[in-house]
Amino acid sequence: MFRSHTCGELRLHHVGTEVTLAGWVQTVRKFGSITFVDLRDRYGITQLLFGEELNQQLDENPLGREFVLQVTGKVTERSNKNPNLPTGDVEITVSSFKVLNKSAVPPFTIQDDTDGGDDLRMKYRFLDLRRNAVKKNLELRYAVNRATRDYLHQQGFMDIETPFLIKSTPEGARDFVVPSRMNPGQFYALPQSPQTFKQLLMVSGYDRYYQIVKCFRDEDLRADRQPEFTQIDCEMAFVEQEDILNMFEGLIKFIFKHVKDIDYTEAVERMSWEAAMWNYGNDKPDIRFGMKVANLKFPSHTFPSKENNSNLIDSADFKVFDEAETVVAIAVPGCAEYSRKQTDELTEWVKRPQIGMKGLVFIKYNADGSLKSSVDKFYSEERLKAIADFAEAKPGDLILILAGAEERTRKAISELRLEMGKRLGLRKEDEFKLLWVLDFPLFEYDEEGNRWVARHHPFTSPKPSDIETMIGNNPVIENAAEYLKHPYANIKANAYDMVLNGNEIGGGSIRIYQRELQEKMFAALGMDKEEQQHKFGFLLGAFEYGAPPHGGIAFGFDRLCSILGGSESIRDFIAFPKNNSGRDVMLDAPSTIDDKQLDELNIKLDLK
Ligand code: AMO
Repeated sequence: MFRSHTCGELRLHHVGTEVTLAGWVQTVRKFGSITFVDLRDRYGITQLLFGEELNQQLDENPLGREFVLQVTGKVTERSNKNPNLPTGDVEITVSSFKVLNKSAVPPFTIQDDTDGGDDLRMKYRFLDLRRNAVKKNLELRYAVNRATRDYLHQQGFMDIETPFLIKSTPEGARDFVVPSRMNPGQFYALPQSPQTFKQLLMVSGYDRYYQIVKCFRDEDLRADRQPEFTQIDCEMAFVEQEDILNMFEGLIKFIFKHVKDIDYTEAVERMSWEAAMWNYGNDKPDIRFGMKVANLKFPSHTFPSKENNSNLIDSADFKVFDEAETVVAIAVPGCAEYSRKQTDELTEWVKRPQIGMKGLVFIKYNADGSLKSSVDKFYSEERLKAIADFAEAKPGDLILILAGAEERTRKAISELRLEMGKRLGLRKEDEFKLLWVLDFPLFEYDEEGNRWVARHHPFTSPKPSDIETMIGNNPVIENAAEYLKHPYANIKANAYDMVLNGNEIGGGSIRIYQRELQEKMFAALGMDKEEQQHKFGFLLGAFEYGAPPHGGIAFGFDRLCSILGGSESIRDFIAFPKNNSGRDVMLDAPSTIDDKQLDELNIKLDLK
């Protein structure tokens, strides 16, 4: 028997028992003729006591950090207990031990607060994974995995695997491709998601499908993006949007309960995409706090149903506002007393290239009711008060105003709102707020190609009331600068995203299931019949053999775990992640391959 117990198991009631443990040496502390060793495994840490008679052996062959050790001894009560350790009441008085393997000196300490930088820890990820902090994340990931499977199994979903070597699936990113040796000059693509397969499974009658599955996307990386990531991918047949929202709201609540012991009993809030953009400047708003956007001025075609309020800022000879397409404000609670230094710093913040604003206008609504602003030259106190009221500011608040082009300014005010929310402590790690964002636009304008692309993917169905607009209008955009005025800009989709604390954790849609409409959709995206047949002939064909109405959703599994674990970076929740350049620094991949391998694949490199 290698071990009788784990290093996290022993308690006072074990005192007197003879046990054998195996694990890694965390620390060695020598006091005269006795030595204390902390032995660690996945389950915890146990203190070992080496008495006088064993000390000589230790002197001859000293133990080092991360040595693999097997010890036998008696469990004894500690005189000096450690309340911070679950095993802190006891120690093992070692009677015999064996070094199972030595270890080189690790390049960083295996502790919660390690001295290893990111690159070093990634290079030695197998050591990093021994650290408690990382282990906790992987345990949480496994708990989310188990809860997901339990819930979906209870609901009659079936886990069906789909292939990785496939033909391109358009999800908006670039494909990773794999050359085929047996088919010279031809390539597989790795799936950006199993989208078309899950739809085919619906045609086959597997009306509740799920998979916790790897997806591959060659896109620019960020803290919440990896080139290979995992989705909880689901599809259902014979459903309407409402059925899907209820089913998967249920899944996330089940995960909250079973992983975090949180009773999320209230209904998940719902918001249209348009309301999200209008009130928060963002399609994935963090609704844990208010500070809604006040729309002072905006191009009327972007929000056709809203009235303009530019009279509040017009006729003041203030060029910045006069010339701007969009002017938006937020009222930051209790910050009217910001010093010059603080407002200057905020101005610098919005000027950073990531935010890209030219400047920041502010109005201080003082506690005594007076108003002071950076634009006092142009606006009377009365007008400032009208703006402050419009932004729903209260005495004591600081009103921040941005002006510029519609898309950029809206995005910037959304970032500024999040930043102020963070600075004011309104974005608490342990507070969770879910939101469904509904009625997304069906199309998105692709500036580079001056054409429409599918905002979600081309299998998403338009709102029935918008089908005529899609079919009856030519997709060609004649004046690129005015694309927002094209009838396609306002077509809405039966698509939905689930948002958690300002992060998109899932997205899906009700699908097109009739060949005719699918062909029209492809045509709207600029695909002629030949291209449609080449790329999606299999799906169009399948739709002719009794495709049921269906819809689905996929959750970003890594993202969900990282938010539940209170981290912004999904890397912390992936055992072997890639760095920001898409490299695995431990494996040193990607890397070159042998000429022989290239020959077999009939590939000749011509690097530019
Ligand atoms: P979508 O592209 O919205 O939908 O992806 C679903 C969810 O996956 C997560 N996600 C990512 N996570 C980490 N790294 C990435 N690079 C990455 N890209 C996406 C997000 C996102 O909400 N087939 C459709 C789903 C459907 O229609 O059913 C799809 O893949 O959390």
